Formats: sequence, structure tokens, C-alpha cells
Amino acid sequence: MAITYNILNRKGGVGKTETALNMAYGLSQAGYKTLFIPLDPQANGQSTLLKDDNEVSEQDAINIREWYDECKDANGILKSYKALASRGFTKERKYQTDINDVLKKPILVKDAIYKTKYPNLDIIPASDELSMTDGFLKLSGKNPSAKLRTALSYVDNDYDVIIIDNSPFESSLTYNGVCACCHEGDTIIVPLNISDRSINGLGATIEILIEWIKEERLPYDVKLLITLKQRNKINEEWIKTLRHIFPERVFKQEIRFQGKPVELAALNNRILLEDPLTSGVKEDYQKFLHEIMEDLQSKLGH
Ligand SMILES: Nc1ncnc2c1ncn2[C@@H]1O[C@H](COP(=O)(O)OP(=O)(O)OP(=O)(O)O)[C@@H](O)[C@H]1O
Ligand SMILES: [Mg+2]
Repeated sequence: MAITYNILNRKGGVGKTETALNMAYGLSQAGYKTLFIPLDPQANGQSTLLKDDNEVSEQDAINIREWYDECKDANGILKSYKALASRGFTKERKYQTDINDVLKKPILVKDAIYKTKYPNLDIIPASDELSMTDGFLKLSGKNPSAKLRTALSYVDNDYDVIIIDNSPFESSLTYNGVCACCHEGDTIIVPLNISDRSINGLGATIEILIEWIKEERLPYDVKLLITLKQRNKINEEWIKTLRHIFPERVFKQEIRFQGKPVELAALNNRILLEDPLTSGVKEDYQKFLHEIMEDLQSKLGH
């Protein structure tokens, strides 16, 4: 049975996707059979994992620009957009069966799993159609939050670990992610970027989680990961306070804010841990990964 880690925070831009991708890469490289599920219409990071070369070549860019110049109206823009989409550069659906189908018909899950360019790492791709699927789930009556849980029950013997990345908005998609964390040992990881504003988001996230735990009696664990950490007094004080309130619920390792290496890896279509460049933030993720692996080993017993 696989262990599920669900990366969740209703606040945007706190490092959910960065964390989810590095976990998926690091664990699969360590030999754990890993399934990555982006439950986010933005599907950020998906193109880094998939084999397709999504880079728009210089010639593509010129062609797109020429089409646009030809038409100079909405049609031109649409044509350019379609050209980008056909090269997999937008979030339009590219796979015949993907997460949208799984959330509607869980039995289709095996058809929606694809190999990534990394060994031991599979993905259920997402697309911007997920916004519509969210609406569909809200309107469909019967247990709409349990679709992903049902789907994963068909495949969780094929994997050691399942990693779910979420959109920043609370939706029936995020409910599905939370409900899929239904076995002992499954963990919700809340990446937390400390600033006086985002701390309000933390309160709200924790309140929601507690409500969900009460309603669904889910046996998952919740742990906070300090991300995008800046060296200043507000950060230090808040982290001390959080560690004091939740001594066992904050990962030891903190992830520093260091834009350049993160940006460079993304530009080169690489995951930070894969990037040959050494950096502080990469070291932070390496150490965080060790913490996760210890946790995983104790739960899987190998
Ligand atoms: N440790 C870091 N240092 C500097 N920049 C970072 C770090 N982690 C992530 N970033 C950058 O910050 C931005 C937000 O990160 P990311 O996409 O992982 O957040 P997110 O929580 O998934 O956002 P969303 O809510 O939109 O899905 C990205 O541009 C990413 O490259
Ligand atoms: Mg994200």
C-alpha cells in the first residue's frame, strides 16, 4: 500500500509545486515507485516531468508572431494560442485520458497513468479542463470528494508513494486530495511562507484541516514545512512560535528563499534537485528529502 503525501495550502505561491516536484524526483531517484498527481488546472511543473520537449523553438516563436501579425485581431491571437497548445506549451488537454476522466470515472485510472522521463516516476497529467471538472464535481451528487480515493485504491499497490500537488484555491479538487489521504501514515504537508500576511492563511488552512478531520475522521497527519525563508526577525520569531505550538508538526529542515537557482533550474526544464548547480536551497531540499525518507522508511518498513 502506498503512502500519500498531499501538498496543500490555500495560499498561492508558497512553494507547493516546487516541494512536490522535488519530493517526486528525489524519492523516485532513491528507488521508491512514485506517482505524481497535479490536482491543479495550472498543472505547473508537469512539463518538466514529461518526456515531451515543450520548448518553443526560435522558429516557432517567429511563426507564431507572423500569424499574429497577419491577423491583428482575436483570431490571430487564438491561432497563436493553438500553435502553442499543439506544442504542449499551454495547459490544454494533451492526453486522451487524464485526471479529469479519473475524477469523473475512477475506474479509468490505469489508462490515465503515464511514464515521466524519470525512472520510477509516473504521472496522472492535468489540464486546464480541471476548472470545469471542479464545477462538474460540485454539481454531481454522489460523494464527489471520494473519486480520487476510489481511483487510487485500484493502483496503490503498484506504488510506494503518491504525491499530490494542489491548486491554491479550496475546491472539490482539493477535497478529493484530502479524502485520498485516508490511510494511517498519509500526510498533508503545508508549505508555509512566513510573512505577516501569509500567517493569516496558515490559521485558515489549519482551521479547515481540523474541520475536515472532524467531518471525515480521516487518519492523516498534518505537518508544516517552512518555505521561502528569509533571514529577518519576523521569520525567526514566527518559526520559533510555530515550533513551540506544534513541536512535532514542523519539519526540522527549512527551505530558504533563493530565487536564482530555482529560476535557472526551471528555465532549463530541470527539477532543482536534478540541477548540477550546487546551491543553498538545493541543499535544503536534499536535507528535507532525507527527513521524508526516514518517515517513509518507518512507514513502509523498508
Ligand atoms: N525556495 C525558493 N526560493 C526562491 N523562489 C522559489 C522557491 N521556491 C519556489 N520559488 C518560486 O516561487 C514561485 C512559487 O513557487 P511554487 O510555484 O512552487 O508555489 P505554489 O505554492 O505551487 O504556487 P501556486 O499556489 O500558484 O500553485 C515560483 O516562481 C517558484 O519558482
Ligand atoms: Mg503550484
